[in-house]
Amino acid sequence: MDKLIIAIDGFSSTGKSTLAKLLAKELGYIHIDSGAMYRAITLYAIENGMFSDGKIIESELVPQLHFMDIHFELNTKNGKNEIFLNGENVEEKIRQMEVSSKVSLIAKIAEVRNYAVDLQRKMGEKKGIVMDGRDIGTTVFPNADLKIYLSASAEERAMRRYEELLKTEHPATYDEVFKNISERDLIDSTREISPLRKADDALIVENGNLSPQQTLQKVMKIIKELKNLN
Ligand code: CDP
Repeated sequence: MDKLIIAIDGFSSTGKSTLAKLLAKELGYIHIDSGAMYRAITLYAIENGMFSDGKIIESELVPQLHFMDIHFELNTKNGKNEIFLNGENVEEKIRQMEVSSKVSLIAKIAEVRNYAVDLQRKMGEKKGIVMDGRDIGTTVFPNADLKIYLSASAEERAMRRYEELLKTEHPATYDEVFKNISERDLIDSTREISPLRKADDALIVENGNLSPQQTLQKVMKIIKELKNLN
């Protein structure tokens, strides 16, 4: 069977990137974290003073989009496909709260979405890709071979992200994390362009009480069944 395009969508901190990374490893595919691209653009806007009173100055950011070099490189030490912004590895910087608190404002700008979606589609041209985000099954790859919609409660999601951040140089309190993911959930699911929603043909995987390995096994079973059908 040909290589697949696998789309994983869901709210913040549902474990999309963890599952996508494990699946890509298991299948020998490429993992693309589409959220990292929106985060990198947000970091660029912050570092270049493009926010005023907490609002993005779109007329400054939009003309810069096509001069940005955003790409991924596989780190062979940790097996992670890491994001680079204009030659700098920004994988850690883009996870800071400051970026998290602004990224959904950037991700709802039409020009930003067009730019990111074009890049994402190019990355999927050769198939053999697992991409995670909010609109992968609905907008980026509406013909994806498999669409997974991951789901978990807001409390479980906030706890996961809080614990992840504790291991970094930029920890945050549980309350800050909970507030941030609730705000992003709202903006991401109500924005005008490509809001987060389950694609009609996506399979819901509830993973609130599953370990990453258990979620992987569950999805690998679905993939094996899919391959047997073809
Ligand atoms: O990891 P987490 O769930 O916190 O979010 P992320 O995947 O890193 O995405 C960060 C933000 O980028 C989201 O809250 C969305 O605003 C935006 N995003 C999007 O609009 N479309 C995507 N395909 C992926 C992310």
